[in-house]
Amino acid sequence: MEFSVKSGSPEKQRTACVVVGVYEPRRLTPSAQRLDDLTDGYISSLIRRGDLEGKAGQTLLLHNINNTLCDRILLVGCGRERDLSFTQYRKIISNAVSTLNDTGSMEAVFYLTELPVKGCDSSQRIRHAIEAAQNSLYRFDQLKSKKDSTRRPLRKIVLTVPNRRDLADGERAVREGMAISQGIKVAKDLGNMPGNICTPTYLADRAKTLTRVYSNLSVDILDEDQLEELGMNAFLSVSSGSRQPAKMIVMNYQNTDSSAPPICLVGKGVTFDSGGISLKPGSAMDEMKYDMCGAASVIGAVNAIAELQLEINVVAVIPATENLPDGLATKPGDIVTSYSGTTIEILNTDAEGRLILCDALSYCERFNPSVVIDIATLTGACVVALGKHAAGLFSNHSPLAHDLNNAGKSTGDRVWEMPLWEEYQEQLKSNFADLANIGGKEAGSVTAATFLSAFCKKYHWAHLDIAGVAWESGTKKGSTGRPVSLLTQYIIDQVDNS
Ligand code: BES
Ligand code: MN
Ligand code: ZN
Repeated sequence: MEFSVKSGSPEKQRTACVVVGVYEPRRLTPSAQRLDDLTDGYISSLIRRGDLEGKAGQTLLLHNINNTLCDRILLVGCGRERDLSFTQYRKIISNAVSTLNDTGSMEAVFYLTELPVKGCDSSQRIRHAIEAAQNSLYRFDQLKSKKDSTRRPLRKIVLTVPNRRDLADGERAVREGMAISQGIKVAKDLGNMPGNICTPTYLADRAKTLTRVYSNLSVDILDEDQLEELGMNAFLSVSSGSRQPAKMIVMNYQNTDSSAPPICLVGKGVTFDSGGISLKPGSAMDEMKYDMCGAASVIGAVNAIAELQLEINVVAVIPATENLPDGLATKPGDIVTSYSGTTIEILNTDAEGRLILCDALSYCERFNPSVVIDIATLTGACVVALGKHAAGLFSNHSPLAHDLNNAGKSTGDRVWEMPLWEEYQEQLKSNFADLANIGGKEAGSVTAATFLSAFCKKYHWAHLDIAGVAWESGTKKGSTGRPVSLLTQYIIDQVDNS
């Protein structure tokens, strides 16, 4: 899909379709009003006779309207003007896009970007429009033998800004929106890819292919021999039950002074989590192919950052492995020595994410990072706590938590901060090792984060538990691509403030 920005009034657009909004109950937006004036009240007459109430989700496509230069006008219900949230706005855009895609307009000029969305400026409305449009057209059909094809698909969307002087900001928003959407697509494709294809080696290859596109990105892959050499026994204890070799993927994006401390992103890359010897129950176990969505979001964010050529240094570290039961698999009660030297009693092999992350987090020390952010589908308990709307945020540095929270608010890719009080450390005591890998029934997402915090004492760190937000279940089953937009926005903000 191609996107561009333009200023100018709806009556002047020579295009396949002009898209304007109608509020509930039967109230025209400014652009709809202009078209109504031009057509001697044709639009308002349709609305009066009940063809469109203006409820969010409604659409009405009009053809060959007198006095206009466009082939069609699409009226889109926007709900009540007063409480237009960004969620509502994104639904409105999605509806318009899928209607256009199904009805033959290959190009359209959108006036929906004029809607007064709570807390969003014109640039954010453009960004949201692009993300919502790409989202609604996304399909994962690579593995279907027959694909649904649209005869005349929507190819180009022109987004409007109020004035010529808004064009420069609008163009920046388009560039950012497109780069982020591309990152989201990469993350979704990786997440949706089944575990028999998306193995640790596949993730490594996918990361490597990005270096062909971006010359200031390099990728190193550490294999099991190298991990053993380094002493990453916590990580290796998870892969020991798998026949797919584990990989640690290290991506290095450098686009500013090489001495500038990088931002480190660490993504959990468990390409299938069966639970290991502490085997999970069977129901919905297929969804554990999504246990690499942290890794996928990191690769997606790096893709977006490189596409935007942001002037910053970023290092991504992705421990990638399967978690399977086997004769050589780790058993409950086994004790391993992590890369940091801390010994860990593995009381439950299903708490594997923290075992691979702790070694990756210790590894980050060598980069002398400004901050380290890990992203992981870490706990079912986080889904219980926050559901699918917010990722859990944990941090040992409140300015970092604050920045991530702001990036979440402005992108709608939201987080909610949870505590890391020292009192929780009690739950991770082991009789036989320095730490246990589980902390009992209470506060499961907090004790998981507390475990990680033991390995992050030397730098500013935040942890995002994305177990609830990374994918949807049920009939809409599929990866969401979260939190690519949050991460990219956070990094854009760091560049802007430096
Ligand atoms: N990948 C899972 C977490 C998960 C579970 C994410 C369900 C999304 C939905 C993680 O490896 C895991 O199994 N965690 C355990 C931890 C427990 C054994 C302490 C969990 O949450 O049950
Ligand atoms: Mn697990
Ligand atoms: Zn897991």
